[in-house]
Amino acid sequence: MTCRFRCGNACAHDVANTSDNPYFGDVVAQAISRRGMLRAGTLGALAAGVAGVGLAGAVPALAEPTEPEAELLGHSSGDIRFTPVPPNKEDALRVPDGYTSAVVARWGDPVTADAPAFDFDKQSAEAQSKQFGYNCDFVTLFPMGANRGLLWVNHEYTNENLMFRGYTTGAAATEEQIKIALAAHGGSVVEIERVRGTGQWKLVTNGRRRYNRRITAQTPMRFSGPAAGSDPLKTAADPAGRTPVGMLNNCSGGSTPWGTVLTAEENIDQYFVNGDKVPAAQLPYISRYTITTGTPASNRRFDRVEERFDLAKHPNEANRFGWVVEIDPFDPDSTPVKRTALGRLKHEAANTTLARDGRVVVYMGDDSRFEYIYKFVSKNRYIPGNDRHNRNLLDEGTLYVAKFTGDSPATEIDGSGKLPSDGAFDGSGQWIPLVSGDRSYVDGMTAIEVLVYTRVAADKVGATKMDRPEDMERNPVTGGVYVALTNNTNRTAAQVDEANPRPSNKHGHVLEIVERRDDAGEKTFAWSLPLICGDPNDPATYFAGYDKTKVSPISCPDNVAFDRDGNLWIATDGNQLGSNDGMFVMPVRGKERGHLRQFLTVPLGAETCGPMVTPDQRSVFVAVQHPGELDGATPDKPASHWPDGDQPRPSVAVVWHAKGQKVGA
Ligand code: FEO
Ligand code: CA
Ligand code: CA
Repeated sequence: MTCRFRCGNACAHDVANTSDNPYFGDVVAQAISRRGMLRAGTLGALAAGVAGVGLAGAVPALAEPTEPEAELLGHSSGDIRFTPVPPNKEDALRVPDGYTSAVVARWGDPVTADAPAFDFDKQSAEAQSKQFGYNCDFVTLFPMGANRGLLWVNHEYTNENLMFRGYTTGAAATEEQIKIALAAHGGSVVEIERVRGTGQWKLVTNGRRRYNRRITAQTPMRFSGPAAGSDPLKTAADPAGRTPVGMLNNCSGGSTPWGTVLTAEENIDQYFVNGDKVPAAQLPYISRYTITTGTPASNRRFDRVEERFDLAKHPNEANRFGWVVEIDPFDPDSTPVKRTALGRLKHEAANTTLARDGRVVVYMGDDSRFEYIYKFVSKNRYIPGNDRHNRNLLDEGTLYVAKFTGDSPATEIDGSGKLPSDGAFDGSGQWIPLVSGDRSYVDGMTAIEVLVYTRVAADKVGATKMDRPEDMERNPVTGGVYVALTNNTNRTAAQVDEANPRPSNKHGHVLEIVERRDDAGEKTFAWSLPLICGDPNDPATYFAGYDKTKVSPISCPDNVAFDRDGNLWIATDGNQLGSNDGMFVMPVRGKERGHLRQFLTVPLGAETCGPMVTPDQRSVFVAVQHPGELDGATPDKPASHWPDGDQPRPSVAVVWHAKGQKVGA
C-alpha cells in the first residue's frame, strides 16, 4: 500500500538515473583539515535556521560564540537524559516516561472558520478544501509571541483506500472522491495557542483564525525566477507559462529568515497519465523523472476530473510540478510562488541558512535512489527587515550539485561497513555550478533546460549518486549540514563508495557536510558519516564512535532537525528492523556525540515526520503520517485506530515534559 499510494511503486521501476556518473572510488582527498573546518557556531545560522519569524533580524555573524554568548543564546551542552522508548509494534504514539502527547490537528479538522465538522462517511471536496488535509509531513512554527503561532503543515499525498469505503482504483473511483483527493493534498496554515504554563499547543478554534488557510492541488500559483514564462512551462490553459495551478506531493521543506515557508514538491511523477504520449523530444525527460506512462488503473486518475493531468493532451503539465514553493503564512490572500531558480527535482527539503556575507543558501535533496544533493546560493544578500528586497532573493542565484570524494583507498571500502584505516568514512567535496540566471554551466543545455530538467543537468557534470538524499539542514550551533540518506537496496557491492559505503543499504545513514571556512556560501567542503543506521549489534553500523551498547536501534532516517542546543533530531520512515517508525535525538558534539536515543514511536503503519522543536525547547511537534498504511487495511478493516479509536487519521501531535523541562533534556 505504501508503494502504490506514496511513490507510485517507485521501487518496482528501474532506477531513473542511468547516467554513468561515478560511485566515486579511490580518489585521494584534498588536504583539508577537518578539525579546522569543524569550528563551531554561527549566530547568523542560528537566526536563519531554527524557526522562521521571530528570529529574523539577526546579522550573519560568523565567529564561534564565546561561552557568555552561548549562554545568551540559550545553548546548553545539549545533554540528553530521557529513558529511550524501546522498539515496539504498538498502535500508539509512545513517548518517554515523564512526557505527554496530544493531537494538535487531525485530517478533517476545520481549518477555515467556515469549515464543517469532519464526517468520515459524508466527505465532500468542498468540505475538504476547508479542512486539514491528509498525510501531514513537514511541520514548522512561525511564533507570534511566546504563546501563539502559525503552524505550517505539508499534506504530501492521499491514501484513498483508507479514506473511502470500498475504494479499489482510480479508474473506479467516483469523481467526487478524486476531487476530495485533490483537495486533501497541499498544505495548511493553522493558528495555534499554548495551553498556559505547559508545552502543549492546540488549534485556535474561535472566530479569529484570520491566518488559517488551505493550499491544495487546485490553488492558483505563479512561477517566478529565470524559467517563469519559458516554453517548457506553457500549456493551453496558461499560454504565458506563468500561472501553474496547485502543488503536489509536498514532502519536507523549510522556512526563510523573512518569515515564509518553503515547501518542496517530491514524487510528482505519479499524478499523470500517458507520459509515453508526449512529443518524442520530451520522452527522455519523462523517463528521467519516472513520470507515469500509460493509464494504470491503480493511480489516482486525476485526469478524469482535470484534463491537464493527461500528458497526451497537455505534455508540459508535468513540468509545472517538482518545484520549491514559497508561501507567506501571514498573508492568507498571497499567491504561492514556485521558485524556478531552485531547479526541478523530486525535492525533499529546502532548508535555508545565511552565507558569511549574508547571501541566502538553500539546501535540497532529491529523494530517489542514486539521486543528488543540491544547494542554491542567492546572488543578493539578505537585508534584515527589508521584506520587499528579501522576497526576491530566491529568484536570482546559482544552483549547485554536490560531488563527493573519499580520502581512503577503495580497497578499504569493502561493503562490510567496517571503518577504513583512517577511522572514518570521510573526505572532501565540491559544489558544482549548474546554472546562474540565464547562464548555463552545463554543456549542451540552456539555462531553462537546466532549471526544468535539473536531474539531466546534474548527470552531465558528474555529481555523486547518493542513497536517497532526503532532508538536510544546517546545525545552528556547530554549522555542520546534516543530510538524511534514507536507504538504497539497489546499490550493489560494485557501486559502494566512501559516502555510500554499504551495498543493499536497507537502513540508511546520515552525512555531515562542513563547508570550507564554515561558510555556507563556499564551493568546497569536508564531509563524514557520523551515523550508519541499523541494529547496533550489526558490525556494519556506526554511531559516531559512541558505545553501541547504549544506543537505540534506528532504521531509515528521513527528516532531520535541530534544537537550539544543536542536538540532531531524526524522524524515520520505513523501519526495516521490525519496529514502528520513530523519532530520535542525538547530540553531535562533546562526549555524548553519537549517543542516539529513541524519543518516540508512532502508531502502526505510520511514518514519523516533523520534527519541529520549538525555540523555547519546551515542545516538539511530530507529524504522524499515514497511520494504518499496511497491506490489506481498509476502512472496514483498519490496521490502526489512532488517534481516536476509530478510523486512522494522519495528525500533527505535540509532545512535552510534564514538569516543563526542555524536551529530551
Ligand atoms: Fe516524501 Fe522523501 O519522503
Ligand atoms: Ca576516510
Ligand atoms: Ca520525507
